[in-house]
Amino acid sequence: MMDSESVRRDFPTVRKGLGIYLDSACQSLRPDQVIEAMNDYYENYPACGGRSVHSMATKVSISMDETREKLASFFGTDDPDCYVFTKNCTEALNIAAFGLELNKGDVVVTSDAEHNSNHVPWLQLSDSRGAVRRISRSGEDGMFDLESYQKCIEGGAKVVSVQHCNNVTGCTNPLKAITEIAHDKGALVVVDGAQAAPHMKVDLDKLDVDIYCMSVHKMLGPTGMGVMYGKREVLEGMSPYMLGGGIVGLTTYDSVNYAPIPDRFEAGLHNYAGIIGTGAALDYLSRVGMEDIEKWDSMLMERMMRNLEDVKNLHPVGPSEPRLRGSVFSFNIDGLVSHDIAMMVDSMCGAMIRSGMHCAHPFYVSRGVDGSARASVYLYNTPEEIDVFTDTVIHIAETFGD
Ligand SMILES: Cc1ncc(COP(=O)(O)O)c(C=O)c1O
Repeated sequence: MMDSESVRRDFPTVRKGLGIYLDSACQSLRPDQVIEAMNDYYENYPACGGRSVHSMATKVSISMDETREKLASFFGTDDPDCYVFTKNCTEALNIAAFGLELNKGDVVVTSDAEHNSNHVPWLQLSDSRGAVRRISRSGEDGMFDLESYQKCIEGGAKVVSVQHCNNVTGCTNPLKAITEIAHDKGALVVVDGAQAAPHMKVDLDKLDVDIYCMSVHKMLGPTGMGVMYGKREVLEGMSPYMLGGGIVGLTTYDSVNYAPIPDRFEAGLHNYAGIIGTGAALDYLSRVGMEDIEKWDSMLMERMMRNLEDVKNLHPVGPSEPRLRGSVFSFNIDGLVSHDIAMMVDSMCGAMIRSGMHCAHPFYVSRGVDGSARASVYLYNTPEEIDVFTDTVIHIAETFGD
């Protein structure tokens, strides 16, 4: 079992008692170890990596290599060059979508529950290049429907792009099955892993997906950091999305040849402090253990949902079964808009949650739901915090709900 007290001691905002943070699906808190690693960079070797050859820059280059090695080992793969640093998961998904060079008539299968970051790039590619989108429909509660997916991919597809875990319903998609079916039809699999990578052991080798994108700032890492993993042969076949310095081998006035992976996708100077902080975040998650983190999140989610189970006027968005919800609980209270719920819980008990449509507009609009409040948990939350939050929500529902 995870040692919650020792974990909590590592987080400055927890130590200072700055409220109950239940917005980790948006961005997680960071432990001292990550902050210190970034400060160490700024204070002791604030140079650029991969370019200059002086001693400070060499230290940065070595740290970048170390973070890629940590990523490879964290995600169960053996080629550090398959990890591209990005500024967030959205950028990673854009590099994937535009780098795969879809042409007129190429079919892309997505689902109806995708975050805008895995929806809008494909929408744009269908408008600009004539790619054909097919959208797999989820069940009533948001669970991925393999039957609908199979119908979408029936006649073949070039790409399947789906999320691993949903940021509204918490549902985890059957990625192994999705990938096997896609590969059978000759399609590449792109995954939006923003909500899965922070909360469960993700073995990319076993999952066999072709591209996996994630948000490091949801994994205890620095703001403005993401990663795109791709199989070597897939990355080598892709074109760069952003062009400029750092991504080339040699240029002339009239020609360019691109650098090998991963440099080909990393134009311009990097967020070096962010990359170094990413390494520290991976060390931290590995030390606590992803299995234990997943169990802790599930225990908190179970408690939150049981506490709120029979509350009049309160309706979950997504499954009512906690074990299907990952680490997010989205809900509405009759008679209240979600932003009011979020502001009330903050002012009444200091709990910080998210509200609105969570960048999943098509999902909400198709179900005629006007957004939701969303509480999301992580390793630094406690059962006591959950009780304070749910007591407040119950009070709000009873006092202000219709
Ligand atoms: C499922 C999902 N995909 C993509 C994103 C976008 O991530 P980022 O902010 O790192 O670009 C998020 C962010 O909340 C998300 O929840």
